[in-house]
Amino acid sequence: MLNLADIRKEYTQGRLDEQTCADHPLMQFHAWFEQYRESNPPEPTIMTVATVDASGCPWQRILLLKGYDDEGFIFFTNFESNKGQHLNDNAQASLHFFWIEMERQIQIQGTVEKISREEAERYFHSRPRESQLGAWASAQSRPLDNRQQLEDQFAQVSQQYEGQEVPLPDYWGGYRVKPQRMEFWQGGAHRLHDRVEYQQHDGQWQKQRLNP
Ligand SMILES: Cc1cc2nc3c(=O)[nH]c(=O)nc-3n(C[C@H](O)[C@H](O)[C@H](O)COP(=O)(O)O)c2cc1C
Repeated sequence: MLNLADIRKEYTQGRLDEQTCADHPLMQFHAWFEQYRESNPPEPTIMTVATVDASGCPWQRILLLKGYDDEGFIFFTNFESNKGQHLNDNAQASLHFFWIEMERQIQIQGTVEKISREEAERYFHSRPRESQLGAWASAQSRPLDNRQQLEDQFAQVSQQYEGQEVPLPDYWGGYRVKPQRMEFWQGGAHRLHDRVEYQQHDGQWQKQRLNP
């Protein structure tokens, strides 16, 4: 075994107090997200998204958060991908943000629904044309014989839509994660981290501190 026990770091950057956390977790998310964004990280919207397959096995992958409001958190993908199939069978997901520079993590658990096709159209057409064509070229998560096949598919759709608007594929769009639980974690010295959990009960958010 490669022993990594000596790699350790103390977390000392800040404290999180359940008394001064916002009453609504979205406000707390917004405050933390804006602080993180102002620190100019390379990709501020990166998050890990977990879904569960039909056998109960959890899967995770990085996606980009494309918007949030009091309805939920939005990402875009291929509905026929692995995650799309999981969400079709079990419309629940967990989002995870880890901001090491600030020694913070945020977890979100919630139910998932597709956003409207109009909203998806708006976002799809705001993307670079090549990304729109990429959505047509890639049968996301399905086997591919080789790289050339992908490039040939890209060339084929580029030719097909030359001089025209690239339409939104039926199998592509956005999901909204509607949070039921959110947790904010701030690293603390001696592993005495601060954790504040919000849970929704009958439409009302309640917060409490958790042991680290
Ligand atoms: C930085 C980064 C951003 C990504 N953003 C997205 C995204 O917004 N949507 C997406 O479908 N895949 C995105 N991916 C690719 C996914 O991680 C994943 O490979 C893909 O969605 C297929 O996942 P699945 O097979 O579990 O469905 C991104 C990957 C990285 C590393």
